[in-house]
Amino acid sequence: MASTEELQTLVLTTLDRENVIVDSKDLKTVSGGDLDQLAVLGVLNSLKSKEMVDYSSIGREVWTLSKEGEQVAEQGSHEARVFEAIPAGAEGIPMSEVQAILGKAANIGQGKAIKNGWIRKEGDNLVRAKDSIVDQTKSDLQEIKKTATHSNAKTLTDLKKRKLVEKQKVTTYKVTKGPQFSLEIKKEATDITAEMLQSGEWKNATFKKYNFDAAGVAPSGGHLHPLMKVRQEFREIFFEMGFEEMPTNCFAESSFWNFDALFQPQQHPARDAHDTFFLKDPASTDRFPRDLMEKIKVTHENGGDTGSTGYNYVWKEEDAGKLLLRTHTTAVSSNMLYKLAEKTKKEGVFRPAKYFSIDRVFRNESVDATHLAEFHQIEGVIADKNLTLGDLIGFMDVFFKKMGMEKIRFKPTYNPYTEPSMEIFSYHDGLKKWVEIGNSGMFRPEMLLPLGLPPDVRVIAWGLGLERPTMIKYNISNIRDLLGHKVKIDMIKEYPICRLDKKMGKELVGVSEQ
Ligand code: PHE
Repeated sequence: MASTEELQTLVLTTLDRENVIVDSKDLKTVSGGDLDQLAVLGVLNSLKSKEMVDYSSIGREVWTLSKEGEQVAEQGSHEARVFEAIPAGAEGIPMSEVQAILGKAANIGQGKAIKNGWIRKEGDNLVRAKDSIVDQTKSDLQEIKKTATHSNAKTLTDLKKRKLVEKQKVTTYKVTKGPQFSLEIKKEATDITAEMLQSGEWKNATFKKYNFDAAGVAPSGGHLHPLMKVRQEFREIFFEMGFEEMPTNCFAESSFWNFDALFQPQQHPARDAHDTFFLKDPASTDRFPRDLMEKIKVTHENGGDTGSTGYNYVWKEEDAGKLLLRTHTTAVSSNMLYKLAEKTKKEGVFRPAKYFSIDRVFRNESVDATHLAEFHQIEGVIADKNLTLGDLIGFMDVFFKKMGMEKIRFKPTYNPYTEPSMEIFSYHDGLKKWVEIGNSGMFRPEMLLPLGLPPDVRVIAWGLGLERPTMIKYNISNIRDLLGHKVKIDMIKEYPICRLDKKMGKELVGVSEQ
């Protein structure tokens, strides 16, 4: 086999000497062997791209001998060999002897030799019927072997039927000089570089031609941000457990849904501008249900029909109307529970519901390596009759086990909208300590009854952050490398898809909470 350089030189020197290569099949290796025409094509394409040569294909049928054909071309046809095996004269020899000499060929050749009138049977003996014969098959095959074809097309089809020859399609090439023909191959530049411009080298450089037929670089787009990849994994867990996703596409929310509907008093410190981003323009809305607003007002003021004493202050619509960037996704949950109550009233029957959401929330915090003014919350809500704290604990156990967190513990805490409320802790094997992973509770009657849910309906809910599991999964130590204006776009392309597995779950509880 000739190397690419050898082939290139062969093509160029032949063209230089003869001006044209009529058929590349006539090009031979140094030792006189045939060339691999595919390798020739490669070299021709490369030279053509530099306009050094031009070529056209020559399609041709090539006949070759089968293994049996080779044998016949060398030793003669079976019938001729039978003829040769029988001595001249009237005596002949017994059939068994011919068989002993020729083996299997005797059986095939005998009938044909008789049909040709070359021999005949006499008793048990075979006798020559002619003095001499011409073995046409042998000479036909020898001709085909030499020329790869035969002057008589019928001979070719006959021999093919006898499986002595095979037909192949072969492509070779006619090659002519191109406009840039030369014996030397110039190195071509593929790009103009800053150095070429500075040195002026670009003026004399030969540039590689664009190959518009080449396969392009695959366009890349639509990469998911790591947070969205991890979100997808949590989503799968929720869907697996029969949850429905809440619509969380509206970041701006009224204080009404974010706080008031959650029985969070209007003088609560979280409602201060130090903690919450309020909108300037528009600064307020009155778009919340009037009758619900009345119920919430009295519940805050004196407990209304809920059996509670309320907070004993004067509730103002003005405060509820203040627009803000939602501080938690529970703003959406309260809205969804109101819709569930409305649906229950309309249909006359309560149907249990399981909702979840994973989306962005905003808090007016000072930004550091682990805190941003915006982050993502994962929230789950289950509404059913007669749910108990035991249900919440049991469900948390199942939910976090799905993320590989086996040991879960709870600690009482306070939320204005849940009672009882529990912080969720998971044991971290590596750190050998309990780490906080989320917050949960049972929504208070002061929240559920004004929404209009039947009195025996209980709602359990929990929330956790999305950033922490993502940072652990992708080994990111500074939150500003994950979210915000300093994020490297390449990072988004490069991070692999996320799979929450057991190991991940164990790591997940290893970083301190938001
Ligand atoms: N909203 C709470 C938070 O922002 C999480 C939570 C959701 C707690 C639901 C209890 C019930 O931390």
